[in-house]
Amino acid sequence: MHVLVTGGAGFIGTSFVRMILRDRPGWRVTNYDALTYSGNLENLSEIEGNERYSFVKGDVRDAQLLDEVLPGVDAVVHMAAESHVDRSIMDSGPFVDSNTRGTQVLLDAWRRAHGVDRRFVYVSTDEVYGTLPLEDKNALFTEETPLQTNSPYSASKAGGDLMVRAYHHTHGMDVVTTRCSNNFGPWQFPEKVIPLFVTNLLDGKKVPLYGDGRNVRDWLHVEDHCEAVLTVLEKGRSGEVYNVGGNNERSNLELTHSILSIMGHGDEMIEYVKDRPGHDLRYAIDASKIKRELGWEPTRSAWPGALEDTVSWYTENRSWWERVRSGAYQSYYETQYG
Ligand SMILES: NC(=O)c1ccc[n+]([C@@H]2O[C@H](COP(=O)([O-])OP(=O)(O)OC[C@H]3O[C@@H](n4cnc5c(N)ncnc54)[C@H](O)[C@@H]3O)[C@@H](O)[C@H]2O)c1
Repeated sequence: MHVLVTGGAGFIGTSFVRMILRDRPGWRVTNYDALTYSGNLENLSEIEGNERYSFVKGDVRDAQLLDEVLPGVDAVVHMAAESHVDRSIMDSGPFVDSNTRGTQVLLDAWRRAHGVDRRFVYVSTDEVYGTLPLEDKNALFTEETPLQTNSPYSASKAGGDLMVRAYHHTHGMDVVTTRCSNNFGPWQFPEKVIPLFVTNLLDGKKVPLYGDGRNVRDWLHVEDHCEAVLTVLEKGRSGEVYNVGGNNERSNLELTHSILSIMGHGDEMIEYVKDRPGHDLRYAIDASKIKRELGWEPTRSAWPGALEDTVSWYTENRSWWERVRSGAYQSYYETQYG
């Protein structure tokens, strides 16, 4: 089996590439990534030289390059995306271009290379469902929940998601889509809330908490997510959507208190900042379909252990995040949080 992973130099992609090489001994992986600000090959230094791994610097919007690369590939796992909601609020253009148009260009190239019979997995997000009310704790996103996107990021991901669906219905392509909740773990770009807060505290800075912190997210360890994607790649039913979640709902304030407590700080390190415009209130996932049909459920996401391990990783890998946080990221941080 030869899998091409788009976005394989990002947070989830690097974990997925490592997992394939570790857990599927006969498989080959091509990592196809444009190396935007969030792509980092340093995260894969341990597998450099592995003869089952190769890297192609390429953009999912580059049809010509895809036509050269895809013919020898058995399956595509499409993870490449502009992934940060706050950036999509500042400028949505790159999001529509990479996430919606890029997915269409990649689907067309995949169909040119192999017709419709080879598998294409699209890594979407639970954010395509919009938001749930805070008051109704029993409300969950199911695969039948209508797509009601609220941020330019989620709208651009839904564009790709619907394009994938359309290529199945129109052309009969073998596609499967996953919609996953918030991931955490090592090697996450420190613009996202957990590494942002942990690295701020390690630097003696306060943590910028949006609004009153009552927004709720479901948290899933990145390796659980990758295992779900691998399961869907191997066993998912063609044309289906599978929700992926951690059964691990926390308000942002609870998350902040957990991080502060693990790191030995108190509430004085919280700086309440102006809320994100259009901030979705609550994401919560019904992931019973993937468990029932494919036998997947999370095994690495339990709190507080998984969060403690993640905090330890950033504590022990200061040189990594100091490098990643320098340069262009610094000016983004200052624009965002002053
Ligand atoms: N992080 C989460 O919590 C989460 C949750 C659900 C779904 N997702 C989805 O998972 C995928 C990966 O997310 P992540 O957190 O690893 O993001 P990330 O920002 O860490 O990585 C994205 C990767 O995509 C690459 N990329 C961006 N645009 C590209 C383009 N046009 N062509 C080729 N490569 C390009 C970047 O260089 C980077 O390596 C995304 O599709 C995202 O929407 C993420």
